Amino acid sequence: MQVGGNAYQVPAGRRDGNVSSAQEAGANLPPPTASVSRLNQVFGAKGLSQSDMVALSGAHTVGAARCSSFDARLYSYGPSGAGQDPSMDPAYLAALTQQCPQAQGSDPAVPMDPVTPTTFDTNYYANLVAKRGLLASDQALLADPTTAAQVVGYTNSPATFQTDFVAAMLKMGAIEVLTGTAGTIRTNCRVAS
Ligand code: HEM
Repeated sequence: MQVGGNAYQVPAGRRDGNVSSAQEAGANLPPPTASVSRLNQVFGAKGLSQSDMVALSGAHTVGAARCSSFDARLYSYGPSGAGQDPSMDPAYLAALTQQCPQAQGSDPAVPMDPVTPTTFDTNYYANLVAKRGLLASDQALLADPTTAAQVVGYTNSPATFQTDFVAAMLKMGAIEVLTGTAGTIRTNCRVAS
């Protein structure tokens, strides 16, 4: 897939780890149901601020999520365990229930930004303002008063989003960098050696 958008320079030369653990990755990733305070804990534990977290979430302007990542909002929301998420635009909710019918064997993926799915823009944030965020953790960024202004701000200033996103990506790329003889330098990046 070709993705339109933003080009920026990254520092070269991170050493690769020798082990990749799904369990370890799962323990460090927030669930798609996470609240802002949970997201802050997970990002904060890696030295990333709330503002970094809101900017990095803008990556969800490209790519797709499987129905199982958000269908609790369509079919099993709230205390009854059978409601629909009232913070979602009803037309969007109806469209998603078409794309993610209940009781099916497969688990299809839907675009996270249906407006411009392959362009790295601020439509992700515009979708949140229109109550069209796909994951509960996305929509939470508008619902929470401590993050809402940043979300709305990015819709008015795409250049600020791009600058903040790049800064936060560089910060994220510097998390727990392996140094000295830890890890390896791969000749084939797909093979641990
Ligand atoms: C804020 C916390 C985050 C949560 C809770 C989260 C959660 C998720 C989930 C559940 C999916 C869909 C997975 C699936 O159904 O297969 C997804 C996809 C994706 N996420 Fe995140 N994510 C977060 C932050 C980030 C960050 C920081 C980035 C990168 C800077 C990112 C980039 C992506 C991309 C590009 C996809 C699409 C992958 C594809 O199309 O295959 N996400 N995320």
